[in-house]
Amino acid sequence: MKGIILAGGHGTRLYPITLTVSKQLMPVYDKPMIYYPISTLMQTGIKEILIISTPEDLPIFEKLLGNGSHIGCNFSYMSQAEPKGLAHAFIVGEKFIGKDSVVLILGDNIFHGSGLKAKLQECKKPDGGIIFAYPVQDPKRYGVVDFDKKGNAISLQEKPKKPKSNYAIPGIYFYDNNVIRIAKKIKPSKRGELEITDINKRLLKKNKLKVKILDRGTAWLDTGTFNSLMQASQFVQAIQERQGLRIGAIEEVALQMGYITKSDYKKLSKPFKKSGYSKKYD
Ligand code: DAU
Repeated sequence: MKGIILAGGHGTRLYPITLTVSKQLMPVYDKPMIYYPISTLMQTGIKEILIISTPEDLPIFEKLLGNGSHIGCNFSYMSQAEPKGLAHAFIVGEKFIGKDSVVLILGDNIFHGSGLKAKLQECKKPDGGIIFAYPVQDPKRYGVVDFDKKGNAISLQEKPKKPKSNYAIPGIYFYDNNVIRIAKKIKPSKRGELEITDINKRLLKKNKLKVKILDRGTAWLDTGTFNSLMQASQFVQAIQERQGLRIGAIEEVALQMGYITKSDYKKLSKPFKKSGYSKKYD
């Protein structure tokens, strides 16, 4: 399975902060935002990752992350000139995906929690698609899924004025290779985007969409507004200071996943001595 991180867009909801810097390079407490989705993919066991961003921002991501070999990964980069929608990622990434299955994660979504790693790893061989549902107070801001009494997903809505449930769909989506074909078939929505929700609606109709509920032990944070960006930083700070464990530290995840050795980790930590970003491993 391959992974795609969608890290483009104009970040207009964070203007003027994002007038000159990509949203996904903004700090979330002690590291750039994109570290979090990278670490989520790494924990899922994905090493081949395509990062999609704007032509202006892509060189900065490359400067930050390189080819990924330092953390046992393989990063590729492709640009998306205009934000044509989340589903557009599968068209941009067609060659990269090849004949594989693929997981798409949004560059501004942060996941953390017990049991999450195992839950994500279970999704690596999707037959159709696998998405998640997470209870939120303000479902209008998201894709929304509604269930019948038996817990089967029955409808999907994108940013509905009248949500049928309070289950939002977080920005991580697993698909088999047919997703490329479906992405090419769907038409832009009223807001001019190829909607991931339209892909999921097609799969739901064909009984090829699994929706798994993320339980209360999981934190899903998005960082698209001033408040949610601040809250995400505070969340990471609180957990890290309390537990002494890091969230989204890609070098540490590489070590835990066995992608690099302790001595590799020590070398990677050197530049971070002054900031205190890296945890010591003896
Ligand atoms: O956060 C989860 C939500 O993400 C889902 O519940 C919704 O169903 C889904 O449509 C999406 O909604 P958003 O309105 O939050 O998506 P947004 O347009 O903000 O894009 C999400 C990220 O993807 C953002 O970091 C920018 C990036 N992006 C977006 C588009 C449309 C791109 O890189 N390229 C794009 O073409």
